[in-house]
Amino acid sequence: MVQTRVLPGDDGAAIREAAAAIRAGQPVAFPTETVYGLGANALDAEAVARVFAAKDRPSFDPLIVHLTDAREVRRYAVAADADDPRVALLAARLWPGPLTVVLRKRPTIPGIVTAGLDTVGLRVPDHPVARRLIAAAGVPIAAPSANRFGRVSPTRAEHVVAQLGGRIGIVLEGGPCRVGVESTVIQLAEGVALLLRPGGTPTETIEALIGPLEHAGEGPTTASLAPGRGASHYAPRARVELVAAAGGLAALPGERLGLLAADTTGRHAAEATGGPYAAVEVLSPSGDEIERAARLFDALHRLDAAGLDRIVAQAVPETGLGRAIMDRLRRAAARA
Ligand code: TXA
Ligand code: MG
Repeated sequence: MVQTRVLPGDDGAAIREAAAAIRAGQPVAFPTETVYGLGANALDAEAVARVFAAKDRPSFDPLIVHLTDAREVRRYAVAADADDPRVALLAARLWPGPLTVVLRKRPTIPGIVTAGLDTVGLRVPDHPVARRLIAAAGVPIAAPSANRFGRVSPTRAEHVVAQLGGRIGIVLEGGPCRVGVESTVIQLAEGVALLLRPGGTPTETIEALIGPLEHAGEGPTTASLAPGRGASHYAPRARVELVAAAGGLAALPGERLGLLAADTTGRHAAEATGGPYAAVEVLSPSGDEIERAARLFDALHRLDAAGLDRIVAQAVPETGLGRAIMDRLRRAAARA
């Protein structure tokens, strides 16, 4: 057991202390615009191993490497990939931001970071605390989301403490995450662009810049292309059931049933056709997809804390950020 301290991310002394911990090989949790990450020096295999241990994360699941500047891509990706004009275009338009680009890696990135793959996921995050931390540490920071493996990702410092308290020394506080779902992950390889994970950058935005994305889809190929994308993920303790937009379900006798409504209309419909609900969360009263994404994990954490047996989650349209939301809801609903 280590003592976990929450330090203010807007304080220079706290950043220096966290950066020193990173350089000393200790994991540090920090905010990004998507979710909180659990970071370690990406060039130090032992430090990265501590991240896997703190999360109970299996070693087949690769980590994303966080940089402060797109110019650093050349240091960690092979020249042929780093010089791909699509990288420059995406970097100029979408970095800093919720996009991870998977390219063939240079040997400087230890195998544990990429789970033995010959590719590495690179991203420049858009959160002042993350940017200050990486700059102060002076090394690229490998960071998965700061949750226990398979659980709901953290969008507030308190979510990190609830899951990793006693396992890590420092959590930098940076307020609630603005985007709320993880980065979109794409892989670029000889003339192809492959969507590995829908996320905080809508696929439409990426396609407008570099043309159509191939979809990795589900199944064994995806499992080997994007390890760690197992069906069951983002799971609260209660069982999650996905229903149609504006759908509901009746509580079984003695059951504590929760509702994750897409909007106010959905809430009313679910209350008219099902319930009673012991706890209700509305992702966005007006049905705004940015607000829905930003509140998704926070709502799941709150429902999880309500001691429910089952959570009814309403589907949302699968366009824009809705694709990432539905991806997370399907995985939350899948039982391994
Ligand atoms: O927004 C985010 O991306 C957050 C914040 C902290 O930056 N990070 C995050 O990391 O979501 P994580 O570890 O929870 O998810 C990383 C996923 C892996 O599970 C895998 O699916 C994909 O990104 N990935 C990473 N490197 C890869 C690679 N070399 N090849 C294929 N997929 C990769
Ligand atoms: Mg994760």
